[in-house]
Amino acid sequence: MASYYVTTPIYYVNDAPHIGHAYTTITADAVARWNRLRGDDVMFLTGTDEHGLKVQRAAQENSCAPIEWADRTVVRFQEAWQQLDIANDDFIRTSEPRHHHSVQQLLQACYDNGDIALQTYEGLYCVSCEAYFTEDDLDDGLCPIHRRPVEHVTEENYFFSLSRYEKPLLDWYEAHPDFVVPDTRRNEALGFIRGGLQDFSISRTSLDWGIRIPWDRKHVTYVWFDALTNYITAAGYASDDAQFAHRWPGVHLIGKDILRFHCVYWPAMLMSGGLLPPRRVHVHGFLLVGGEKMSKTALNQIAPGDLVADFGSDGVRHHFLHDQAFGPDGDFSYEGMVARYNADLANNLGNLMSRVATVVGRKCGGIGPAPRPDSPLTAAVAACVAETADAWERLAPSEALDATWRIIRETNALLEATEPWKADPGPEVDAVLGDALEALRIVAILASVATPRGCEEVWRRIGMEGSVADQRLPEAAAWGGYPGGLAVSTGAPLYPRLR
Ligand code: ME8
Ligand code: MG
Repeated sequence: MASYYVTTPIYYVNDAPHIGHAYTTITADAVARWNRLRGDDVMFLTGTDEHGLKVQRAAQENSCAPIEWADRTVVRFQEAWQQLDIANDDFIRTSEPRHHHSVQQLLQACYDNGDIALQTYEGLYCVSCEAYFTEDDLDDGLCPIHRRPVEHVTEENYFFSLSRYEKPLLDWYEAHPDFVVPDTRRNEALGFIRGGLQDFSISRTSLDWGIRIPWDRKHVTYVWFDALTNYITAAGYASDDAQFAHRWPGVHLIGKDILRFHCVYWPAMLMSGGLLPPRRVHVHGFLLVGGEKMSKTALNQIAPGDLVADFGSDGVRHHFLHDQAFGPDGDFSYEGMVARYNADLANNLGNLMSRVATVVGRKCGGIGPAPRPDSPLTAAVAACVAETADAWERLAPSEALDATWRIIRETNALLEATEPWKADPGPEVDAVLGDALEALRIVAILASVATPRGCEEVWRRIGMEGSVADQRLPEAAAWGGYPGGLAVSTGAPLYPRLR
């Protein structure tokens, strides 16, 4: 079975989860679900980044030990992902022993390869980014990302010889044109590499909360070297060679704020350790609130759970996947979310389901008829299925959902044109309703990656056995899979309309 390994960034536990984190996690979950439907052996990883100065300080401010702080905050992420029906296969915490072991092994491999050496470092550090900057990087003397003062640091640190990897990285990009997508982000990473790479510090002595450098225990590993390594830890690096060979390389989903780490540092670290770079890095833009990036300081963070309470997990998932194009920045709007929910979930999918079940109840004694092999929907549905698949492969969720929803619109149009609710029971009515049930069956499969709850319910109401999640593409989405003769049930609206 083909392996598909997909990851989200691991989120810092200095802060509570907000809808920016949810955005990446929902997208990764949908992609993982899509690849499971295709029959791949999927591993979907998310987790938390628990070491470093930023977390140590958050713990201090809350008068507790870093691990207690992490233990408390990690639960909030896990709860949020549960509320959003995130089906991750593993959850990694960088404080776990398996991860300490893996980081130390990668450090040792890079060290043995001659890429790590002691140097004196003098420079500027942004604790919010956990990153070093040069004077040139700054914006009016402030961190260009957080617009906060940076700290002056002088330390004897271990450095990673990133400068040696300029050529190997450029060669890698050249040989793998899809390594970083979209192209604008690929060009940004290439520009950074071509601008000249500086070695970067990978240890600190002024910090306790982290992973010790194996050959010099006064030093604690720089949080980004530690964090990036999570992706291979969970895939079995340094613990299960067969598993690791099967899983790695994986696909990373990240926000544009951490491009440099994933598209420059990380592939170089892996090359130094004798490992392959990731298969692909998908970079998306920011979700803005009132035109601004969400941040703790701006007090404009929205908790995913608050939205789930109003829209259900399907409503939140569908909105983010549909309305936030995976690439550019996009503004979050509550009104936009209500409009999307009402249009797509309440009016289209929800109405089609209740309409079909009601008419099957009245005209067919509640037993769903079989579809016609040469239905007027057959060709259109096949085209929508192909388009949906193509869009998910390209990681274009919005296009994928548009293509899937076209099936619903076509089906509603067929019903409007034939009005089976007005006709006398008979073969004509059976034919149209069979077609509509078949369309619902296919939509339930395709849309389940975005809206798993509602789609499982559609599956149940049209009388299918088992779970949507157990269906396999492409066979399951081929026209004609609805057998007919199944009990169709009505019920409360799948997605009650919101005002
Ligand atoms: O950077 N819009 O963690 P982090 C969209 N621990 N996505 C957003 C967002 C927004 N407004 N805000 C955050 C870290 N994100 C490191 C990562 S990985 C080895 C270590 C998402 O908690 C987006 O995916 O600051 C971004 O890259 C990530 O959260 C940063 O989360
Ligand atoms: Mg951040």
